Amino acid sequence: MRSIIVPLIILVALGLPADADPQQQPSLKDAYKGRFLVGAALNASVFTGSDARDAEIVKAQFNAITPENVLKWEKVHPEPGRYDFDLPDQYVAFGEKNHMFIVGHTLVWHQQTPKWVFEDAKGNPLGRDALLKRMHDHIATVVGRYKGRIKGWDVVNEALDDDGTLRQTPWLKIIGEDYIAKAFEFAHEADPKAELYYNDYSLPNKAKLHGAIELIRKLKAEGVPITGVGFQGHYKMDWPSADDLDAAITAIAKLGVKVMITELDIDVLPPAMQYRGADVSLNVKLQPQLNPYPNGLPDSVQQKLAKRYADLFRVFLKHREDISRVTFWGVTDASSWLNNWPVKGRTSYPLLFDRDGRAKPAFDAVIKVARGASAAK
Ligand code: GLA
Repeated sequence: MRSIIVPLIILVALGLPADADPQQQPSLKDAYKGRFLVGAALNASVFTGSDARDAEIVKAQFNAITPENVLKWEKVHPEPGRYDFDLPDQYVAFGEKNHMFIVGHTLVWHQQTPKWVFEDAKGNPLGRDALLKRMHDHIATVVGRYKGRIKGWDVVNEALDDDGTLRQTPWLKIIGEDYIAKAFEFAHEADPKAELYYNDYSLPNKAKLHGAIELIRKLKAEGVPITGVGFQGHYKMDWPSADDLDAAITAIAKLGVKVMITELDIDVLPPAMQYRGADVSLNVKLQPQLNPYPNGLPDSVQQKLAKRYADLFRVFLKHREDISRVTFWGVTDASSWLNNWPVKGRTSYPLLFDRDGRAKPAFDAVIKVARGASAAK
């Protein structure tokens, strides 16, 4: 009797429903062992200990972690000469304590990077050399601090526009096209053993895929130390098709880089606009028709989401030789960024665990795909 009561008391104390004991559930990391790592992006409450429930889910289910925000430039290096490593240190310690593959996200991006980075002390635009020096110092300091501990870095994030051309960011405008190669070189210099990734969304779209292929081919030809390409994977119910995703993974893997799915979630809510990418600067006003499930997801939609996840994981499994990791962007539906993007205040259902920390039918479907593959071996 005591052996049942004690775990129950622990579950209640953690705020987990009694039938959601993370120790009793099958785990994603074990189901996909030998195929690829399964990861989650963590917000600070998970690794600082304030969200014990999500921390338990993460420990039970995942063997790779990515920080949602704490290593972005605006957080880790908010002012010239001032770095804040308090939360990143806790993030890395959490990963080490739980024997997880620790990812760093992200070094060079046009978002969540303070304006001062591109300006001199008087507010005038920086020149090429000064910005390169600033990029070098940032990368040397941040990557250097976690040398040998953070095993893979998203070095450059979202350098391509949807049409496949280079995005007109301050990095590109001030430094020129080689800012991408330089970022990889600086990261390699700071930690020669770390894996280094290019990370972007909408890669299954033809024009963007074409641009990414050109970019990676060029970097490889120049001997730039790039080890992998991250498909962010902010997907919809009807996009991308499994075939387009399959073709895109094949095309990128052929370039001789690892592929990883780095920010997986599937949006079941109605589109707020025509645009299907993941540009974080977009924002649409909340209207009731854009938030159809404020009180729970109908079973018919749960089942569709489960099928959609199964379809995607079948593609990932098919590419297990090339895919090294599949990371979800968040732990439960409650803390997903999709509750606030591109519309603030929606009730979103994009992940495998619901708002109460319970595994959804989509979780079972993803486990089943792995088991199906084992049975077929
Ligand atoms: C992009 C970034 C992530 C995150 C997500 C949305 O995909 O790479 O860091 O900001 O958007 O939360």
